[in-house]
Amino acid sequence: MLLGVNIDHVATLRQARYALLPDSPNAEPSPLQAALDARDGGADSITIHVRGDRRHMQDRDAFEIREKCPLPLNFEMGVTREMQALALELKPDFACLVPETREEVTTEGGLDVLGRFDEVKACVAVLREAGIRVSLFIDPDVAQVEASGEAGAEMIELHTGCFANAVADERAMEVERLVEASRCGVGMDLQVNAGHGINYDNVASLFEVPHLAELNIGHTIVSRAMRVGMVEAVREMKAAMEGYPG
Ligand code: PXP
Repeated sequence: MLLGVNIDHVATLRQARYALLPDSPNAEPSPLQAALDARDGGADSITIHVRGDRRHMQDRDAFEIREKCPLPLNFEMGVTREMQALALELKPDFACLVPETREEVTTEGGLDVLGRFDEVKACVAVLREAGIRVSLFIDPDVAQVEASGEAGAEMIELHTGCFANAVADERAMEVERLVEASRCGVGMDLQVNAGHGINYDNVASLFEVPHLAELNIGHTIVSRAMRVGMVEAVREMKAAMEGYPG
């Protein structure tokens, strides 16, 4: 199982002070440096999300990371014309289509592929035509998985937010939903990834979910990096993922 490290919150910290001073020579921390450190810690890919409101990653971060970090780049994006144009210019290895509203603190809930089918399918086609592999970030729901396959995606990323927030019996139920969705995805020839809210403590509970190719993890790694540095934080997560049966 591979690890994609989401470094958005490195940019969140920089923007907290330098949003209005983008050209300041003092602007820190550097998302590019975080990407390179994540690579040194064993990350398999780097994930960034340029949101419509540019609250953390900026366009120039995306281009700089694309140019200078040798790892595959996973570009999370809303299904908008603006982001589609940016993706076509950036040419990431992967694009992950996510829902995006201005009010949310972070991505809440999966993309409603069923409800937005034509729009999503059109965006997937444009990106794939440009040679970008496309993933859809969806709730672990069989109907959404099936719609994702029909929309032409190559991958799905199962939203693990409910899993991460659940305790006891509810956690077991959420694992079961992920198991079912993952089996359905593989049955449709989709690569199955997962992400959101995964941390050092709960990652082992995902070992029961079969067929997971990649986990995308951000907040907990950036938080841990404040104590041990990014290289070590990523190493620790890779170690925590090691027991996955494959
Ligand atoms: N995957 C997707 C699609 C996301 O939107 C996010 C959050 O930005 C993540 C993974 C990473 O979630 P977390 O920061 O909770 O690890």
